[in-house]
Amino acid sequence: MRCLVTGCAGFIGSHLAEKLVQSGFEVMGIDSFTDYYDQRIKEANVQALLKSPKFTLIKEDLLGADLDKLLEGVDYIFHHAAQPGVIASWGVRFEAYLNNNILATQRLLEATKKISLKSFIFASSSSVYGDCELPMREDRLLSPVSPYGVSKMACESLCYSYWKNFGVPVVSLRYFTVYGPRQRPDMAFYRFIRAMLKGEEITIYGDGNQTRDFTYIEDAVKANFLVMEKGCSGEVFNIGGGTHTKVNEVTSLLEKLMGKKALIRHISPQKGDMRDTLADIGKAKRSLNYNPSFNLIEGLKREIEWLKEIIGL
Ligand code: NAD
Ligand code: UGA
Repeated sequence: MRCLVTGCAGFIGSHLAEKLVQSGFEVMGIDSFTDYYDQRIKEANVQALLKSPKFTLIKEDLLGADLDKLLEGVDYIFHHAAQPGVIASWGVRFEAYLNNNILATQRLLEATKKISLKSFIFASSSSVYGDCELPMREDRLLSPVSPYGVSKMACESLCYSYWKNFGVPVVSLRYFTVYGPRQRPDMAFYRFIRAMLKGEEITIYGDGNQTRDFTYIEDAVKANFLVMEKGCSGEVFNIGGGTHTKVNEVTSLLEKLMGKKALIRHISPQKGDMRDTLADIGKAKRSLNYNPSFNLIEGLKREIEWLKEIIGL
């Protein structure tokens, strides 16, 4: 079985590609190594993969690549390439979201409609919901509050259209704030832990009472394998940790786990940042048998250990 992982040098894509290779799949990974964050991090993310004869890296942009050729013989597509980042998506920077999210997804779907595929899994996001009633359920009206959320909602809608009209077997997984080793350096846990290890200040947006449903990376990866098993084309699933935690509680937890005080500075809330997220994972439990197996303490310990290692402590 042959898999294509887009965004294979990123945080989630690299973990997923590794797990697929370990499970015996032949994996082609495509990534354009965008400069949204340090490209050396992405090089490091694919280091282990490059040692496997079952893995091929294609360093190309989805917007220019010969997708028909790339998709020859592919059974599963895991579409994780994107321009991420919620609060960075305003102003002129939206062009990157338009290109790498909406246009790249449409291009990939166009190529996919010509081939026979088992599953096309799209990495969607909790940010499609906006500030809606909790817990967030898949059938809620989507009202994203950031341009990034709008771009992911548009991608999901494109996926649905290609399923409805051409039978592309799409499944959208709405990930809720994924964390763990290799987390992106613009994300909260990475920034908090790194700052605490270096004795630097942490910046909290607003009062810190905003909440997030945090999902450990292995649970996010596992959800992809469950879709491969169960199919469920045309469906959308929340993939979360099943509870939510205030940002202030996270910093207190980090102080306990790391045995030191955090130096905290509050700045104004950021435009586009949702106030609260909490996934209703009932549908994923029922249809996919998805059950998150990592709690925040265990997951944070692993991210702390990883960051200590890469910082050289
Ligand atoms: P990431 O930035 O680490 O990985 C995305 C990768 O896609 C990058 O390596 C980038 O170089 C690549 N890429 C971007 N545009 C490309 C293009 N046009 N052609 C080829 N490659 C391109 O991000 P991540 O945190 O691993 O997120 C992976 C996916 O999951 C994204 O679609 C993101 O929107 C989604 N997601 C992430 C989270 C999270 O908490 N990390 C939550 C919800 C959804
Ligand atoms: C994350 C990812 O960055 C998005 O790519 C993804 O689509 C989204 O999850 C999702 O679930 O859909 P976010 O929840 O904003 O977005 O992730 P973090 O950057 O880890 O932020 C978590 C919380 O910490 C937010 O409330 C944010 O306001 C806060 N934060 C973040 C700070 O207070 N300070 C910081 O330096 C960074």
